[in-house]
Amino acid sequence: MKKLIQEHRKRFGEFEVVDFVDTGEIDVDVPLELHWAWEYGSEVAELRSLYEKGKVNQWNAEADLDWSIPVTNDEFVINPEMSMLAQVCRMMGRDEATQKAAAFDEVTHLLSQLLHGEQAALQLCGQLTNACPRMDEKWYAASQVVDEARHIEALSKFLQRKMGTIYPINPTLKILLDELLRAHTVQTKTLGMQCLFEGMAVGIFDLLRRETRSPLLGEMIRRVEQDEARHAAFGVLVMRRVVREAEPEEKAHMEEWAFSVLEALNANQQLDMLRLIGPKYGIDAENVTRMALSMPGFAEFNSLPYMHTVIPNLRNLGLLTERTRDQYLKLGMLLEGSRAAQVN
Ligand SMILES: [Fe+2]
Ligand SMILES: [Fe+2]
Repeated sequence: MKKLIQEHRKRFGEFEVVDFVDTGEIDVDVPLELHWAWEYGSEVAELRSLYEKGKVNQWNAEADLDWSIPVTNDEFVINPEMSMLAQVCRMMGRDEATQKAAAFDEVTHLLSQLLHGEQAALQLCGQLTNACPRMDEKWYAASQVVDEARHIEALSKFLQRKMGTIYPINPTLKILLDELLRAHTVQTKTLGMQCLFEGMAVGIFDLLRRETRSPLLGEMIRRVEQDEARHAAFGVLVMRRVVREAEPEEKAHMEEWAFSVLEALNANQQLDMLRLIGPKYGIDAENVTRMALSMPGFAEFNSLPYMHTVIPNLRNLGLLTERTRDQYLKLGMLLEGSRAAQVN
């Protein structure tokens, strides 16, 4: 199976990492086929009901969050056990203030990546309003554009007002998001964004919400997650129909493509973050990554955001079968005991 970002791979023991520095292009050429839809009545009841749910669950990022709540790095902004940088600083014998500062930087970097992902979601859903063939899909995609604008608003305000920094996009993430934005079909865009990236984002947001010690961050994420659950549900609804109607070769292609995107995302581990922030704390990115990969609980910890939503949904869609199962297992993704697909 062809791997993505092949030219920037190297081996760390058994594991193949993606590791490179790239400033990334800002203007991206995207092919887009525009479809008019003349049927203005509803054709897909579940999509119409998702759109209706979105209307009643709107919220205001400026008014509905208490921005007066301070966020400081005098306290751990997240459970230190969940911060790789804080853990490494502790093992290096650095004081608690340094561990707190490192955890703060790591969360700032993670939220920055989620913010850039929100921008990609906004742009991709804008494409879907053009490219989707049915009016229910156009309405739904338009409502998701508004949701994503609100998420960009909330996250960028949180980063600017409370954390003081927005870090640039990880090169690996940028390449993978461009892959979806450049994709030719609505199906690939939906599989990539609503199923893979939003599924991953829900897993990460959920971890952050449970582990953060900041009430403001926790509340902001709780609200974002409610919207994201709707977005993931759209992905499942659309892809269920697509998979049902697909020829076996098309289905195999989708399964392999989904694996290749998740594999490349996982292959970077935390290298992009460590390269950027590690030097500030005297941390060597490669050494720390090699150490993390060889830790006994690595697979379990590494699979947490994958097992939350994206892998259960792929299985539920029939896009994770014997064809890719062993390859997921090889990556340290534990596949047993996963939750059912999230459709609500
Ligand atoms: Fe979002
Ligand atoms: Fe979303």
